[in-house]
Amino acid sequence: MRNIIISGFMGTGKTVTGIKLSQYLKCPFIDIDAVVEEMEMKSISNIFKEKGEDYFRKLETQAIKRVLKREGQVISTGGGSLLKQENRKLLKDGGLLFCLSASPEEIYRRVGGAGGRPLLEGKDPLNKIRMILSERQSIYNEVSHSIETDGKSPEEVAKRIFKIVKELEGK
Ligand code: S3P
Repeated sequence: MRNIIISGFMGTGKTVTGIKLSQYLKCPFIDIDAVVEEMEMKSISNIFKEKGEDYFRKLETQAIKRVLKREGQVISTGGGSLLKQENRKLLKDGGLLFCLSASPEEIYRRVGGAGGRPLLEGKDPLNKIRMILSERQSIYNEVSHSIETDGKSPEEVAKRIFKIVKELEGK
């Protein structure tokens, strides 16, 4: 099986959905943020605080490259992983890429404030979500398999992806 890669903005349910999907597909699940944290032995928040976003983005690309050496996995990425052209190519070539989406209000409800997400820290996280999402929208729109998750459980989203994967595999 090809890798199944789940991208999309923070709070769209990439990790929980990815775990469910890996259970349905009976394959390993890998979270790129968790790989970055292991590489540095630090939380994402502390990496941002101590070394800054550019440093985090370098680690993120290294983690993506490392994980994509293997096949047959469900991979969830960080919400900013598609920002760099280099990563976009790696992720598009590295498997079947999906993008989860949700409205800013739903994302806000799910992340409940910043929740360990440095980019949403400070005042008015909902406004930050709106702004960052609108800056990135065109990049997320480039992904051909897009799944809207408002009002859907991670199980429902995972089942939908599972169905698409099976249909594509059958071709
Ligand atoms: C980021 C999303 C986060 C994490 C980091 C940056 C982003 O991952 O990689 O805080 O730029 O959108 P999640 O999407 O899993 O929250």
